[in-house]
Amino acid sequence: MYPLRRNRRLRTSEAMRSLVRENAITPNDFIAPLFVVEGKNKKEEIASMPNYFRFSLDLLEKEVKELWNLGIKSVLLFVKVPDNLKDNAGTEALNNDGLMPRAIRTVKNAVPEMLVMTDVALDPYSAYGHDGVIAHGKIINDDTTAILAEMGLSHAKAGADILAPSDMMDGRIFEMRGLLEDEGFHDTGIMSYSAKYASAFYGPFRDALDSAPVDAENIPKDKKTYQMDPANREEAVKETLMDIEEGADIVMVKPGLCYLDIVRDIRNAVNIPVAVYQVSGEYAMIKAAAEKGWLDHDAVVLEQLTAIKRAGASMIASYFAKDAVKLIS
Ligand code: PBG
Repeated sequence: MYPLRRNRRLRTSEAMRSLVRENAITPNDFIAPLFVVEGKNKKEEIASMPNYFRFSLDLLEKEVKELWNLGIKSVLLFVKVPDNLKDNAGTEALNNDGLMPRAIRTVKNAVPEMLVMTDVALDPYSAYGHDGVIAHGKIINDDTTAILAEMGLSHAKAGADILAPSDMMDGRIFEMRGLLEDEGFHDTGIMSYSAKYASAFYGPFRDALDSAPVDAENIPKDKKTYQMDPANREEAVKETLMDIEEGADIVMVKPGLCYLDIVRDIRNAVNIPVAVYQVSGEYAMIKAAAEKGWLDHDAVVLEQLTAIKRAGASMIASYFAKDAVKLIS
């Protein structure tokens, strides 16, 4: 009742605002995605992701130490697979001496306490750029989940702490959890990309790994038969609850900013940690606008990350992890 209640009293100074602040981002919130390439002394900037790089294993080691010293305690690994190793079934994904297992061992040797998460999906290994095996112009679900489980096991053997299946096949969490249990990897966790949308915001990521679906006859050039329709909200809760039943330890919503209603729905529907992935296109948009001088880069980064926390994220995978941690410390 005005003037007895004046809302602006609680905004009079930074000390006052910080006292009543409801949400904040901290270094503990972040998962830093890292792109890895074969070779030595390589630090290649990704054209559509300014100031973001692919690292060869020697430089990955340096990067991981730097992240740890900044207070970032988990990384999410992605590998760029040479074209000559790609095929329909993702054979290279099961190579225990492939780039991913070597990257896992590199990170664990450099910083043993660092949590290592790994992307589990066939697309970087697929000659077609798809997350599943293709036959008769279709993505074959159950053949794919069997491969994904083996792939996850190979990461676990190399020392991964958390497997992050990002493919959206049905039943893959169940299959993966079962194999891990059978093989004695009881403590290897699963962070499921449970509500992952068929989004146009993944473009720069596909540049980074050269993993975009190819133009070929009879093969869908998009991922709409497995990733979710951006128009759907209720379905995200169904997908997520099923992944939890199948054994997911952490669930995820992806992308971030356009899907914060989904984040809040899921936060309210489940009682396990909810991760949000602020994806490559979200990174690229901020970088492009800032380059033109149209937006204040640092302010927009912190505002978006705080909004993701406010929506209900327990943790955030973000290409801004390093920038954000520097800005808040
Ligand atoms: C692989 C995968 C993708 C992303 C994470 N894991 C691409 C895709 O599904 O096409 C996107 C991440 C980003 O855009 O930052 N399945």
